Amino acid sequence: MDLSVVILSAGQGKRMRSELPKVLQLLAGRPLLAHVLDVAKELSPRAIHVVYGHGGDRVREEFANRDVSWVLQAEQLGTAHAVRQAMPSIDPDDLVLMLYGDVPLATAGTLRALVDAAAPGGLVLLTARLSDPTGYGRIIRDGAGEVAAIVEEGDADQEQRRIREINTGLMACQAGTLAGWLDRVDAKNAQREFYLTDVVACAVADGAPVTALTVDAADEVLGINDRRQLAEAERIYRARVSDELLDHGVTLADPHRIDVRGSLSCGRDVFIDINVVFEGEVRLGDGVRVGPNTVIRDCEIGAGSTIHPSCVLESSSIGKGCEVGPFARLRPQAELADTAKVGNFVEIKKSQIGTGSKVNHLTYIGDTTIGERVNVGAGTITCNYDGANKHRTIIGDGAFIGSGVELVAPVEIGAGATIGAGSTISKFAPPGELMLERSKQVVVRGWKRPVKKSE
Ligand code: UD1
Ligand code: CA
Repeated sequence: MDLSVVILSAGQGKRMRSELPKVLQLLAGRPLLAHVLDVAKELSPRAIHVVYGHGGDRVREEFANRDVSWVLQAEQLGTAHAVRQAMPSIDPDDLVLMLYGDVPLATAGTLRALVDAAAPGGLVLLTARLSDPTGYGRIIRDGAGEVAAIVEEGDADQEQRRIREINTGLMACQAGTLAGWLDRVDAKNAQREFYLTDVVACAVADGAPVTALTVDAADEVLGINDRRQLAEAERIYRARVSDELLDHGVTLADPHRIDVRGSLSCGRDVFIDINVVFEGEVRLGDGVRVGPNTVIRDCEIGAGSTIHPSCVLESSSIGKGCEVGPFARLRPQAELADTAKVGNFVEIKKSQIGTGSKVNHLTYIGDTTIGERVNVGAGTITCNYDGANKHRTIIGDGAFIGSGVELVAPVEIGAGATIGAGSTISKFAPPGELMLERSKQVVVRGWKRPVKKSE
């Protein structure tokens, strides 16, 4: 059977108390629906149908570049009604895998097991046993232990609420069979909604085989209805990523205090201290050490480099054996060649720092090309912006820039040139020469400091 996936994502998610449609809430920096789409894609289905409704345009825009068939559910009349909207676009012979946009942590292995358990004419559902089943639909089994129905919490009596086996919401069924059952579901229940869960009773009434697969890792099936559950999902996700990193040989000072919101690849013997946030795509070479309290987004860091505490690094590349920070900020397109050093309270933007060059203290370098073995003194500023346009600064190999220098771009400092401390340089500095731009020091002899007047 060909596989078609349906992802239910039309709900508002009232319990989130948010302007944002629920499936756009972020988990590990990505919308909930992105997680579900990614895992669905791993099954290589013929098509992925996303049922959308509440906040519809925002949802579609967010995923504009994905290969998704969008199905509008204009009014959210329940999960069965939602799946029904997708049925006309699905071949009756296909196997339909139904996923919820707010159940983002299921693994491809679990989904595959569900698909593999499907038999023509039957229904497979994924259940889990939870210590606290509150909020979920409960699985009702008959005397022989076979699944008889699902009862939603709002419709369950005291005894049914004590049942620990819950409906994860994930099901698979052949489209033709499913369509027949969906037509029979009514809205006579506590919420006056068409429940997808009622297809179980339809299947049982027809004598069709109903298979319940029970997932061992209850973590996979967490449904996210409120902020607590979202925080819980974040915790589960973090633990998964930490485990992968540890298995890969990365040392984490504390696996509970690292966040990976994107992808992180690490070489051998990488050390990551506490409270480091990785966003986008980050690559760390062998032996990289990252100090505590740092944010790294879309960066590549070469082997043997050290990021000292409290840095913010974005869209930058750092060569091998570099040192950055503490308290350094690399803005987009900062490129550090091997063994370069960028020290505390230094900001670098759209600039190349050559091999072995040092920019160690309280400095701004923007739109600049720095050659090799250059030393930039404390408090140096490249004045790259004239209020209208940005201009470049070029500093040749082996130049020495004294402390407190302003380099007014566009300007070029020749190789081996020396700029005296406190100079404002706005013209070409010839190679190998000393440039000074300072007024003469005067001594005012006998000058007296003012004293505070008595009142
Ligand atoms: C649902 C299940 C419940 C299960 C739980 C698992 C039903 C009736 N109940 O309950 O048995 O234990 O999930 O997490 O299915 N949606 C639509 N259109 C609608 C209504 C909902 O697309 O008209 C979407 C929502 O956006 C959401 C998903 O369906 O992604 C589930 O809806 P939700 O209201 O969260 O159902 P639960 O009460 O969590
Ligand atoms: Ca839910």
